[in-house]
Amino acid sequence: MARSLKSLGRAAVAALSLVSFIPITANATAAESQKPRSLLVPSVPSPIAQSNNYIVNVRTDNDTQWQPVELYWTRVMVANVTTGAAIYHNSSVGTFDFDGIVNISIEPSRDTFPSVDSVRIRPLSYNIPWKLDGRTILLTISKPTNLVVEVNGDVFQVLHLFLNKMDTGAPHHEKNKTVTSFSPGYHKLNETYKISSGETVYLAPGAVIQGSFVFLHAEEARLIGHGIIYGSTLNAVNVSFSNNIVVDGPTVLSPLHASVGVGSSRNVLVRNLRVISSGQWGDGIDTWCSHNIIYEKLFMRTADDCLAFYLSSSGYSGNSQNITVRDSAVWADVAHPLNVGGFGGNETMSDVTFDNIDILDQHEPQIYYQGCMAMSTSNGNIVKNVLFSNINVESFRLGMLFSFKVAYNPKYDSYAGGTLSNITVRNVEYNGSDSNLSILSGFDKDSQIEFVSFEGLKVNGKLIWSGMEKAPWYAVSDYVPAWVGAHVVNVTWSQ
Ligand SMILES: *[C@@H]1O[C@H](CO)[C@@H](O)[C@H](O)[C@H]1NC(C)=O
Ligand SMILES: *[C@@H]1O[C@H](CO)[C@@H](O)[C@H](O)[C@H]1NC(C)=O
Ligand SMILES: *[C@@H]1O[C@H](CO)[C@@H](O)[C@H](O)[C@H]1NC(C)=O
Ligand SMILES: *[C@@H]1O[C@H](CO)[C@@H](O)[C@H](O)[C@H]1NC(C)=O
Ligand SMILES: *[C@@H]1O[C@H](CO)[C@@H](O)[C@H](O)[C@H]1NC(C)=O
Ligand SMILES: *[C@@H]1O[C@H](CO)[C@@H](O)[C@H](O)[C@H]1NC(C)=O
Ligand SMILES: *[C@@H]1O[C@H](CO)[C@@H](O)[C@H](O)[C@H]1NC(C)=O
Ligand SMILES: *[C@@H]1O[C@H](CO)[C@@H](O)[C@H](O)[C@H]1NC(C)=O
Ligand SMILES: *[C@@H]1O[C@H](CO)[C@@H](O)[C@H](O)[C@H]1NC(C)=O
Ligand SMILES: *[C@@H]1O[C@H](CO)[C@@H](O)[C@H](O)[C@H]1NC(C)=O
Ligand SMILES: *[C@@H]1O[C@H](CO)[C@@H](O)[C@H](O)[C@H]1NC(C)=O
Ligand SMILES: *[C@@H]1O[C@H](CO)[C@@H](O)[C@H](O)[C@H]1NC(C)=O
Repeated sequence: MARSLKSLGRAAVAALSLVSFIPITANATAAESQKPRSLLVPSVPSPIAQSNNYIVNVRTDNDTQWQPVELYWTRVMVANVTTGAAIYHNSSVGTFDFDGIVNISIEPSRDTFPSVDSVRIRPLSYNIPWKLDGRTILLTISKPTNLVVEVNGDVFQVLHLFLNKMDTGAPHHEKNKTVTSFSPGYHKLNETYKISSGETVYLAPGAVIQGSFVFLHAEEARLIGHGIIYGSTLNAVNVSFSNNIVVDGPTVLSPLHASVGVGSSRNVLVRNLRVISSGQWGDGIDTWCSHNIIYEKLFMRTADDCLAFYLSSSGYSGNSQNITVRDSAVWADVAHPLNVGGFGGNETMSDVTFDNIDILDQHEPQIYYQGCMAMSTSNGNIVKNVLFSNINVESFRLGMLFSFKVAYNPKYDSYAGGTLSNITVRNVEYNGSDSNLSILSGFDKDSQIEFVSFEGLKVNGKLIWSGMEKAPWYAVSDYVPAWVGAHVVNVTWSQ
């Protein structure tokens, strides 16, 4: 059926220009006068549910006319700590495309927020300028970004803003390449859309596709554009046994379970992907047995691991090497924001980098599955050469900062893991008072944690290192605080 949508690209973009593509030429400063300014605010197509928790308007900075931003209704969850049952909360998503600078005005609904007492714009490290004018929050945004606007400390009924660079339309057809476009509006796929080798699937801003996309034994194929993949019952995007794949731009809302899977694939770039999930096993991106993977500019708010890197399982097998996650924000309403090393059997995961990540939250009642940065080798797997650098961890609700362990978890594992070695934790900063004790725990003489280098770790503004002011008989790890158990060797703490 989606075949009938092929080649609608040009038409779709033309229609888009008539409806809501509003280029605005500004009398700007000399330096900026060359830049055309523009704003594209797609509407939420029926029958997709909207949220009225906020009234949002946007305008380019020198335009007097505000444009309303319709909000997607979505759902987030928290586990009841007594029963484990999910408690659901309404949440909101606003998304549009722009170039230049925009002003955004946000008025929380009186029903939900009778008074507006406090506001946080997260990630806090972005230092987004804002002010409060009566009940209205005013933001000034000058580059594409993903934000959470939080009122009165309510972490659920927030406004997620996914703000894109101006859409450039469907790509031109190249020789022997297929371009399939989904125009603005609602599309229900009757079956999984299989993206072929050489094909580009373009989701226009305002396109909402209910269903899922798969790259299976595909080469040189792409899924791009600022549309929304909605209510997927399988992975919204499944990359399996594929090579040279790009996913750039989509948002995944209300998936039944996990959003993206990448297995036994090479040279995969996933960029500008946004996910909000509330269903069971609602991981953001799962990755198995893959090489040369880049994930960047992600926003994940998920009801299970935000990012999980596994070895063999689910029909995939082999080692994993060279996986980078960067310039992203993650929020785990269940389990781990970052999780490395599960499943497999005598395999190796190496060269994994997390750089410039904001960890916004973790809420996980089970100690075993806590850890904003978690690694656990299982089933004889080796995990080595892992770098966590420039990680800001905001005050989270329930969890721990680090959990590094060689595991034997009978629920998932047949036997214990191998070594976890050469781990660098560089410029990690955490502010908060609710962290449980972090854990570094080996298994036996052959299954150790070795060579862990903490460099410039800061907790609540205090630098944790071997030269810090402390009684000589106190361990540096006491100040994290972290339990460094048996079979953990060569741990160093430097500035
Ligand atoms: C999906 O299937 C239904 C029922 O068979 C059909 O009416 C509809 O046209 C199909 N949708 C698409 C987009 O092919
Ligand atoms: C916006 O308007 C102000 C005052 O009218 C002017 O100083 C500024 O240069 C304008 N900026 C842009 C980007 O047009
Ligand atoms: C969690 O479950 C317990 C037991 O059913 C119930 O008493 C409590 O109100 C629930 N908590 C929340 C926040 O719903
Ligand atoms: C979510 O929104 C619906 C519709 O507005 C409302 O009926 C329901 O009570 C809300 N749920 C919560 C938990 O606020
Ligand atoms: C709009 O953005 C400009 C920056 O371009 C800023 O100076 C101005 O205060 C903003 N206006 C509002 C209402 O936020
Ligand atoms: C076009 O691509 C197909 C499949 O990738 C290939 O079999 C065919 O030879 C190509 N044709 C040309 C003219 O390159
Ligand atoms: C992804 O696709 C592969 C290959 O078809 C399949 O084995 C796997 O179950 C799919 N994963 C999900 C979560 O749908
Ligand atoms: C790691 O993967 C990236 C992305 O595919 C690639 O550019 C880079 O060359 C790879 N590095 C190594 C050492 O293979
Ligand atoms: C892994 O190695 C152990 C010890 O040599 C062996 O007992 C086990 O069968 C191996 N597992 C796999 C999946 O190869
Ligand atoms: C340790 O890991 C880092 C990446 O964090 C890598 O650059 C370095 O080469 C590794 N060292 C060894 C001895 O493998
Ligand atoms: C922690 O607090 C310090 C001091 O207020 C601040 O400079 C830093 O940016 C904060 N870091 C994070 C990760 O929130
Ligand atoms: C690593 O730790 C082991 C056990 O404590 C010690 O014997 C060894 O000298 C250390 N190696 C280095 C390079 O520090």
